[in-house]
Amino acid sequence: MSWVEDKVNNSPFLKAPRQAREQGVYPLFRPFETSGLHTTVNGKPITIFCSNDYLGLTNHPKVKEAAKAAVDRFACGMSSSRLQATATAHVEMEERLARWFGFEEALIFTTGYQAMVGTIMSLADQDTTLILDNLSHACILDGTFLAAGTPRQAPEVRFFNHNSSRSLERILKTRQRKNALVIFEGVYSLDGDMANIVEFVDVCERYEAVMLCDDAHGTGTLGKRGTGIIEHFGLEGRIPIVVSTFSKSFGAIGGLLLGSHGVVDLVKHTARSFMFSATLPVPVLAAASAVLDILESDGPALVEELHEKARYMRSRLTEIGFDLGISNTHIMPVMCRDFRKALFMHIALYENGVMMVPVVYPGVKEGEERLRLNITRGHTKQDMDKALDLLASYGEAFFVLSGEDLGPMESMQL
Ligand SMILES: Cc1ncc(COP(=O)(O)O)c(C=O)c1O
Repeated sequence: MSWVEDKVNNSPFLKAPRQAREQGVYPLFRPFETSGLHTTVNGKPITIFCSNDYLGLTNHPKVKEAAKAAVDRFACGMSSSRLQATATAHVEMEERLARWFGFEEALIFTTGYQAMVGTIMSLADQDTTLILDNLSHACILDGTFLAAGTPRQAPEVRFFNHNSSRSLERILKTRQRKNALVIFEGVYSLDGDMANIVEFVDVCERYEAVMLCDDAHGTGTLGKRGTGIIEHFGLEGRIPIVVSTFSKSFGAIGGLLLGSHGVVDLVKHTARSFMFSATLPVPVLAAASAVLDILESDGPALVEELHEKARYMRSRLTEIGFDLGISNTHIMPVMCRDFRKALFMHIALYENGVMMVPVVYPGVKEGEERLRLNITRGHTKQDMDKALDLLASYGEAFFVLSGEDLGPMESMQL
């Protein structure tokens, strides 16, 4: 047996998935038969509560029509990277996005993950300290680790306590390199809390640190027009670099960098994840562009509708007695604080046609296990009421509401 087979057989990462599969309670990779919040799996109707289609525009007829029309002109691939395979559609969309978000320039990547990795690697060098929130998304960590592993260019890497401006300030004061790049997220996707951005701006301005905000989950959900956390807190012009994605409110896939002409120019000529990976296909871009049309005309009403639904869900969940952790947005994790409780809740809900994926270690720390619950504009009151009834009864049955220990339940034990 090769060492690879040996590694596979003994991998600690596969222990829980294998046990879950054996017991028929494996919660991941369920194949949807259509897109949208209301789908089927093996013919069984399922309402999804862990989607990032926050404004419910992915399946808007105009969005799908735009993608179909683009297929005729540009097919589904450009057969190379942006350097030699840029379409007029990319250039036009970059100009529109820069205007809509209020930045000098925009750059479209193939995914948000690549946008973050590439931006960090283009900006960081041996004169830089990268300063990260300790709950940063994988794309921020991976960009940082790649930069840190680059010969003769490695930046210093420091972490501050989640959302703490005091911890951030301590690190800014004691950093070893002259240039500080502070990276944080507008909205944290697992906890649903917004960045403490007003205090961060103050601290960063005092220490002449540059801020880079990953607003993947704030785009389309925060600010009156939906442009994100900067608009929400009226901080226009104070955060020089933003990374975002089309894979959530923009109903498609694609990454986005917003910044000055100089920053975009540097990144487009140095970011390896941009230069050495294929161009975002135009039909996908056309879908995102149709979403931008809708946001330009109806953005404020759509964002308000999302917030109304999120307010309803939050007040009902709180009334029932659920712990929503530190969430203060439409992302409201149902904290179970136990691996089996999260898994059993997921299975019980799923059997009743409601899907909330369990998030467990290593996605979150042990003791912070939860169900992922994202409210979107596409959810109806009936969807939410059904989910609430199920959560209430199974929350009681599995002691999520009481917090009591689940105890030995051999028949249900993983
Ligand atoms: C905070 C954050 N940043 C970046 C990304 C990556 O975006 P994409 O799906 O476009 O690669 C995600 C998506 O999971 C995210 O949650």
